[in-house]
Amino acid sequence: MLEIQSLRAGYGALPVLHDINLSIGRNEAVAIVGPNGAGKTTLVRTLCGLVSPMAGRIVKDGADLGTLPAHKRPEHGIAVVLENRNLFVELSVGDNLRLAENAGRKAAGDRSRFSLEAVLELFPIVKERYCASVGLLSGGQQQMVAIARALLLQPDLLILDELTTGLAPKIVKEILGVLNGLRTQGMAILLVEQSITIAAEMTDRAYVLSVGKVVQEIGHGEWPSVLADDRLIKAYLHG
Ligand SMILES: Nc1ncnc2c1ncn2[C@@H]1O[C@H](COP(=O)(O)OP(=O)(O)OP(=O)(O)O)[C@@H](O)[C@H]1O
Ligand SMILES: [Mg+2]
Repeated sequence: MLEIQSLRAGYGALPVLHDINLSIGRNEAVAIVGPNGAGKTTLVRTLCGLVSPMAGRIVKDGADLGTLPAHKRPEHGIAVVLENRNLFVELSVGDNLRLAENAGRKAAGDRSRFSLEAVLELFPIVKERYCASVGLLSGGQQQMVAIARALLLQPDLLILDELTTGLAPKIVKEILGVLNGLRTQGMAILLVEQSITIAAEMTDRAYVLSVGKVVQEIGHGEWPSVLADDRLIKAYLHG
């Protein structure tokens, strides 16, 4: 469903990503792992239209996304939860969600799969805090609102950047449970993750990014051997 071909991207004239090739199939969960500064967030920002490619192609379901602006990407089934979440913290949870609901309806029309009610059922805490300002919520609760908002954009590919960093284990478990449920409903997931344990638990395969390049691929069924052999982990990853 997503093909990235010979992608170069960065800031100003300076490339951060060099000749990136990767793909995600329908209903697949794929991880991007790698050390701090490897370019993971830059890749996410390029996929969602916040950074323009300098060269190469990003093709989603046959359409070349090229320099399509970020707000048009939900029309192609792409929604993202950014590292800093980018929620409207002064607004209520409900207002944040209703804004996304409207945008999702415009983007997806009859293809819409997630109603506001259905998304609130996934995250009971979000439902409880529906009228509260987002800024008053805990980090974990805000992350749930950010995922709920992304789902209301009606994606078939959900991109998540450092979803679990800084969150309590109980909240992480709850969020990962929801993501697993979404997968059974056909959602493809691109997970940028510092924790190799979580990446291995949540995804089918992975790309290891280092200094802006894909230095290794972890294929279907290869997670157990990667976890058992600490060379890759020592070289590029955190445990
Ligand atoms: N807005 C920016 N302007 C210029 N350079 C940037 C900008 N954002 C990131 N960079 C640089 O791009 C490189 C990759 O950063 P990026 O945030 O993509 O890495 P990352 O893999 O997501 O790291 P982390 O694990 O810390 O989140 C770094 O050298 C960083 O300094
Ligand atoms: Mg990052």
